[in-house]
Amino acid sequence: MSWLGLKGRRVLVTGAAGGIGRAIAEGFAAQGAILALFDRDAEGLERTRATLPGTTEAIPLDLSDSDAIAPAVEAAASRIGPPDILVNVAAMSLPRSLATLTAEQFTLQMGVNTTAALLTAQAFRRLRDPARPGAITNVSSIAAAHAVPNGAAYSSSKAALSMLTRQLAVEWGPEGIRCNLLNPA
Ligand SMILES: NC(=O)c1ccc[n+]([C@@H]2O[C@H](COP(=O)([O-])OP(=O)(O)OC[C@H]3O[C@@H](n4cnc5c(N)ncnc54)[C@H](OP(=O)(O)O)[C@@H]3O)[C@@H](O)[C@H]2O)c1
Repeated sequence: MSWLGLKGRRVLVTGAAGGIGRAIAEGFAAQGAILALFDRDAEGLERTRATLPGTTEAIPLDLSDSDAIAPAVEAAASRIGPPDILVNVAAMSLPRSLATLTAEQFTLQMGVNTTAALLTAQAFRRLRDPARPGAITNVSSIAAAHAVPNGAAYSSSKAALSMLTRQLAVEWGPEGIRCNLLNPA
């Protein structure tokens, strides 16, 4: 029984090859949701897909390639239908001291952890059925509010993701897309 009302809901999850993303995908699948999963780890993604009940599509995607994001979400929508829910879980961390952190390393982490969430959200909004309720959940971190040595790029990207999510809630809430943040410790 789908006690959360998720049966038949169409759900996109990034970072679903392992860890929290895989657990979230398992939770949705157990409730009867229809899933499209994204990750750069194609083998891990396929392992997740193969173990889930119901309809699950696996779509390899490197979120550092911003031009690839909209086409991947479009591919998901063409396979499972207009998405109802988006969960941005994927993230990367390259610990570096501030003395040695390069512009390329900083930009890469901002791209994967923050910009990609904006681009998946924009594609989700464009492709969803506005007659159905929508929801976006972004997975940030307590690092968004706590500085740790060598964590400048990761923490900055998560702080930006947290504020991006608040902005999404303000701008898209009124049109029927609930936007929320998870901050794992
Ligand atoms: N676990 C924690 O204790 C914790 C604490 C606070 C916040 N969080 C947040 O929770 C989320 C999940 O964490 P997790 O521990 O489950 O992480 P994880 O096990 O490393 O899973 C993240 C997934 O994202 C993928 N990924 C990384 N870069 C990508 C890219 N450029 N394109 C597509 N996929 C990419 C990873 O692939 P690869 O394996 O190939 O890198 C991995 O499959 C993240 O947003 C993380 O920041 C986790």
